[in-house]
Amino acid sequence: MAREYEARTRGSERLFERAKKVFAGGVNHNARFYEPYPIFVKKAKGQHIWDEDGHRYTDYWMGHMALILGHSPKVVVDALRPQIAKGTHYGMGSRLSVELGEEIQGTVPCAEAMRFCNTGAEATMYLVRLARAYTGRRVVIKMAGGWHGYNTQLNMGVHTPFDRAESAGILEEEQSHVRNVRFNDLDAAESELKRAEGDAAAIFLEPVLGAGGCIPADRDYLKGLRELADSRGVLLCFDEVITGFRLALGGAQEWYGVRPDLAAFGKIAGGGLPIGLVCGRREILALADPSRKAANFVSIGGGTFSENPLSMAAGLATVRYLRKNAKSVYPKLDRVGKETRVGIDKAFADAGVEAHTTGAGSLFLTHFGKEPKNAEEAAGEDKGIVSSYALHLMASGTFLLPGHPGGTSTAHTSEDIEELARESGTFGESLRERRQQSAFGPVSA
Ligand SMILES: Cc1ncc(COP(=O)(O)O)c(C=O)c1O
Repeated sequence: MAREYEARTRGSERLFERAKKVFAGGVNHNARFYEPYPIFVKKAKGQHIWDEDGHRYTDYWMGHMALILGHSPKVVVDALRPQIAKGTHYGMGSRLSVELGEEIQGTVPCAEAMRFCNTGAEATMYLVRLARAYTGRRVVIKMAGGWHGYNTQLNMGVHTPFDRAESAGILEEEQSHVRNVRFNDLDAAESELKRAEGDAAAIFLEPVLGAGGCIPADRDYLKGLRELADSRGVLLCFDEVITGFRLALGGAQEWYGVRPDLAAFGKIAGGGLPIGLVCGRREILALADPSRKAANFVSIGGGTFSENPLSMAAGLATVRYLRKNAKSVYPKLDRVGKETRVGIDKAFADAGVEAHTTGAGSLFLTHFGKEPKNAEEAAGEDKGIVSSYALHLMASGTFLLPGHPGGTSTAHTSEDIEELARESGTFGESLRERRQQSAFGPVSA
């Protein structure tokens, strides 16, 4: 697979050689590196990207899944063009941020009050700070495999063995009050709450585990967590950076019918431009009101570029579009997402390869093996197959970031999905043949 990929991506290879001399490892986000080297993008439109060599790909990475309406949708372009002339950065409030805040208040069930920031990692960090200040407790119970961005406290237990910092340079003390428990396992959460002995501030999770395997929470599990949190005075915090405005207009909290106390958003809320958002119960967000001069004042949000007018304009155009067209957008996203999961699984089954595509709504990730219910089960996969599958797809004009969830947008069509399923089947057949050959002796790669 790598040979075909390399043969058609020489321009990207050359750029990567230059990038390595400028950036650590040649990339500006670790997830963007994969073997043998990543493709470099020249332009994007709708459901497509074009690489440095001019090849077109149907894109399922969609800017880390931030692009629910496809690349450069007309509504966002039309909102950004005039805004650029009116100012790209104010460092002050504007009508745009108030109106986007009001739109979000009108759509996200828990968003009684909020603060904008610049990234999802910032938003999740502020959630922890608010939860600790509000409860006066320290322990944060997160999920094994739960990914909340690169902030120091929560950047732990994302990968196997799910119990340590994801980075050198983070002190043990900085994460000593963060615990990882098995996702979709209510007993595990309850035991950890008991162990915390009244020091638990928050249960913190992505309603659909993203980087940990694109695994949806069971509805009863989320309801159970809500009850556990209530019975012990603990805040339930949702990381909706992926699921926000994607699973439903009101995010996973609407989709599951479970309302968290606090939630972090990002990605889609900025319509393809940088954004983070902290929202939740008014009395909790009130701790961040600088006019109150309270002893337990919590510093959240902010940053030079918070409520940047370009992010606000793009976010406003996107959220308004989604709100106005919710009745057609979300059923379509669900239908195309389901076609994707079912189509890929059928193609692999027809090819005689065991594979399960997990996800919900427009999210999906194919696992080669048994269907996982948590990150531990997802972690055992053969990474070589995952990588070959993605390279096969890329060599045939489909972009999926190896091992990461994919997301469809309103721009994706049933024909795109048929093509993805067909190419999955072609890969499945070659995988089965290679497995059969290797049963009779060594095979060359
Ligand atoms: C669930 C989740 N939380 C938080 C983040 C961090 O967001 P950002 O990359 O904007 O910092 C991400 C990023 O992919 C994410 O998927």
